[in-house]
Amino acid sequence: MKHFINLKDIPSKDLRKIILDAKKRKKQRKKLNTLEPDKGSPLKGKMLVQMFEKASSRTRISFYLAIKQLGGGTLTLRSNELHLGQGGETIADTAKILSTYGDGFMLRTDDDKKIEDFKKHLTIPIINGLSPSSHPTQVLSDIFTVEEIKKKPISKLKICWIGDSNNVLDSLIAASVKFSFRLSIGCPKKFVPGKQVKDWVKKNKKKIFIYHDPKKAALDADVIFSDKVISLNDKVNKKKKIQQFQKFKIKKEIFNYTKKNCIFLHCLPRGDEVQEDVFLGKNSHVWQQALNRVHVQKSILLYCFGKLR
Ligand code: CP
Ligand code: NVA
Repeated sequence: MKHFINLKDIPSKDLRKIILDAKKRKKQRKKLNTLEPDKGSPLKGKMLVQMFEKASSRTRISFYLAIKQLGGGTLTLRSNELHLGQGGETIADTAKILSTYGDGFMLRTDDDKKIEDFKKHLTIPIINGLSPSSHPTQVLSDIFTVEEIKKKPISKLKICWIGDSNNVLDSLIAASVKFSFRLSIGCPKKFVPGKQVKDWVKKNKKKIFIYHDPKKAALDADVIFSDKVISLNDKVNKKKKIQQFQKFKIKKEIFNYTKKNCIFLHCLPRGDEVQEDVFLGKNSHVWQQALNRVHVQKSILLYCFGKLR
């Protein structure tokens, strides 16, 4: 059994194995309908419990499809429906119950410590479905999408992020170390990645490149990533923050600075950070990106259940 909490803590060779498995499985099920299981139903009879303390469309639906396509099933809960969410039960007791009824637990939470506390008390794997510090299932799936479109290892590509220093970027930074790719970040001075993340990169003898001019960050890029300026439950002055990011809004002109076939990716939901004609334009692959969550999460589930081929 393995947990999937933060890309930083997962060996590179395991992350690569997950991507390879996803590639094989995606190819093999081309002719199958959405809910038909993969050959051999490797997670037959297994149940994934997913709990959301914050809203979700893609993570929730893609995990439902992922476990279904492996032959298992899922139960989706909102935390406020549980005794735990209403303050009437401890994490330890809830974890014991989840481990009794279920085989895996996916949690989207506002509190990284909660994931660690659950991990301590669960006897089943836990998957981080987005926390303040990371969104690992999203970013691993994004690596898969980049390599699928570019048809080369991500280590040979220049990746650029324009936007807020948030959970998705923190996972992308972790991925840049694990997969050895060049990552340039375009963000306002006030919104650079946190010291802890930067120290971790240094400790691993790697570098990230931070610019306060989006054009400089995008120079020669093969991929531009972005995300909302205001994340879920972000407790900031929203109007002020959006204004501070005005210069970083992604417009068509940015592709004058990138490589010719530069692609645009965005995890969704989207906000004001990208113009409609970019989001829906020819460089954008956001729908393929969303679909790939299913394929990669299947291999993440297999990894957690100790069933990766
Ligand atoms: N990208 C992503 O995680 O989307 P949801 O918030 O809809 O799950
Ligand atoms: N950074 C965003 C990602 C949403 C999938 C958030 O945390 O809300």
